[in-house]
Amino acid sequence: MNIIIFSGAGLSAESGIQTFRSADGLWNGHAVEEVATPEGFRRNPALVHEFYNARRRELLNVEPNPAHIAIAKLQNALPEYSKDHNRRVTVITQNIDDLLERAGCAEVLHIHGELLRCRCLYCNEEIKWTTDTSTTLACPLCKRGGNQTGMGEGYGALRPAVVWFNEIPQHLERVEEELSDCDIFVSIGTSGVVYPAAGFSRVAKHHGAKTICFNLDTPDNKGDFDEFITGEAGKTFPEWLNAQGW
Ligand code: OAD
Repeated sequence: MNIIIFSGAGLSAESGIQTFRSADGLWNGHAVEEVATPEGFRRNPALVHEFYNARRRELLNVEPNPAHIAIAKLQNALPEYSKDHNRRVTVITQNIDDLLERAGCAEVLHIHGELLRCRCLYCNEEIKWTTDTSTTLACPLCKRGGNQTGMGEGYGALRPAVVWFNEIPQHLERVEEELSDCDIFVSIGTSGVVYPAAGFSRVAKHHGAKTICFNLDTPDNKGDFDEFITGEAGKTFPEWLNAQGW
């Protein structure tokens, strides 16, 4: 049995990380186009570095919540404790934080990249990164940078290794493979607005999976779910897992 756990910003909300689609339409005070598009980075790289520096610092000060911990527990459950000895749990997230890993998940497919990584604009390599970045840093691997990236003056060698709007999500081949062989698809804390991610539930359903959604508000793709469980995922998801006897 293959269980897919697919998450969005709502999963980390109870850890204190703001979701994207807040009532004011801004992400931590910024229009998404300013800070989460390649065009925004080209226009004002210093602002984008500052924005992700603030997100990175915030991330280092928060902790996984009961929903992250329940997902990790499910992924790590030894086969002899599960009803089905061939069970595997595939964890896919749109979140750029590392809270699932910190909760103990052995493998997480981050389709929108990772906040604690940077990518070099010269050599394209990704590097683990936990401190602030700026427009003057050189790449620690290829040593090129800070001001001659080919993008013009003032960009530095590094950019956050996150997927911005108008960029292609990561791990899509593997995700497609898992969706085509999925028995239970669980979505947690995502508004079902941003594609291709918002279409994963429909693909899984098409391949015969049972689809279940845990969310605070009604997501845009609610019609793709067999079951909708409303409430805070930190409470509803562990309760549901217990009820399954997993
Ligand atoms: P959104 O901010 O669009 O949606 C978060 C969802 O989580 C909302 O539907 C909330 O109702 C729900 N929610 C909030 N708190 C919750 C809680 N405690 N328990 C359960 N649900 C809760 O975030 P995403 O759907 O993740 O992409 O956004 C998708 C993508 O849009 C992001 O990955 C990002 C963004 O722009 C890129 O940056 C490319």
